[in-house]
Amino acid sequence: MAQRHLIDLSDLSLQELDAIISLAVKIMENPQDYDQVMKGRIMATLFYEPSTRTQLSFQTAMLRLGGQVIGFSNPENSSVSKGETLKDTIRIVSGYSDLIVLRHPLEGAAKAASLYSGCPILNAGDGGHLHPTQTLTDLVTLVQEKKTLSGLTIGLCGDLKNGRTVHSLVKAMCRYPGNRFLFISTPQLRMPQYVKDLLDTLNCPYRELDSLEEAIAGLDVLYMTRIQKERFTSEEEYLAQKDVYTLTLDKLEKAKYDLKILHPLPRVDEIADEVDGDSRAVYFKQAIYGMYARMALIATLFSSGLRQGAPAGELHAHCKNPRCISASEHYLPALFHESGGMIECAYCSQRELI
Ligand code: CP
Repeated sequence: MAQRHLIDLSDLSLQELDAIISLAVKIMENPQDYDQVMKGRIMATLFYEPSTRTQLSFQTAMLRLGGQVIGFSNPENSSVSKGETLKDTIRIVSGYSDLIVLRHPLEGAAKAASLYSGCPILNAGDGGHLHPTQTLTDLVTLVQEKKTLSGLTIGLCGDLKNGRTVHSLVKAMCRYPGNRFLFISTPQLRMPQYVKDLLDTLNCPYRELDSLEEAIAGLDVLYMTRIQKERFTSEEEYLAQKDVYTLTLDKLEKAKYDLKILHPLPRVDEIADEVDGDSRAVYFKQAIYGMYARMALIATLFSSGLRQGAPAGELHAHCKNPRCISASEHYLPALFHESGGMIECAYCSQRELI
């Protein structure tokens, strides 16, 4: 089978994306029609970082499609603890399985894995970079709950710097017409420049602001996020950010009646429990939609197949991002895209002037 990885949702055309979303809805309506489509196939889930939703929804998705699952959820219980490289682990596991789902703390790890895998790699989160299958989940949620992916004013609130889900979501939603974004964060946790550069290139409107109260009345969608404690270098910096934004019923008084509140979960304290009962809160449904989104993605990979994005060029350069996988797995080739006088690391998307 040709290698059809999913590293970034931008690897898919809008037509492919829409087909996967439609399939997720069909599976939701008639799951029995799909319960054998992965019979005889094995999926490996390699989770180098903790996870509840992504790991278990992928595993459940595969089991519900009639396939089987192997993997680890703690690399300390694997030969990673003896110093095995990502490259070698992927070579071995891709010989045992038909599909690898990879979560890793370093940015670009899924892209790196795809260079050495004999089977498709699905990015289940690479450090603070991207989380494409969470975004598929979010798109299915919006289709089900808002009935459209276009013409929406979308507020994203919290840790926009380190939250990989918001990076992937903005990159996907700016491809649909008429969407605009309000980035609600402290100055320290603003959306990365490469995401804003993309919006500028597409003339997609966005505004950065500090106040959730100021933004809330105009929103169609509010995407709350957790402050990503594990990405901070000091406890002090984390504590300074931790309780800045908390969504309460009081704050929702000014919001539209048909606002939809999403959160990739887990939450810490950025949404008060009292909001859970509000009809606008859809974050627990969102986690269930994630299972159907992943079932549709897996089924699509093994049926009609997905077009593969163009490979990055090889340039004589090294990524300067210390959280990039290429900074710690030194055998990796330098891979960069070139555009508009900048080069962008193909692993972690860090951009710099040529
Ligand atoms: N949304 C999400 O990625 O959750 P987990 O970390 O529990 O997988």
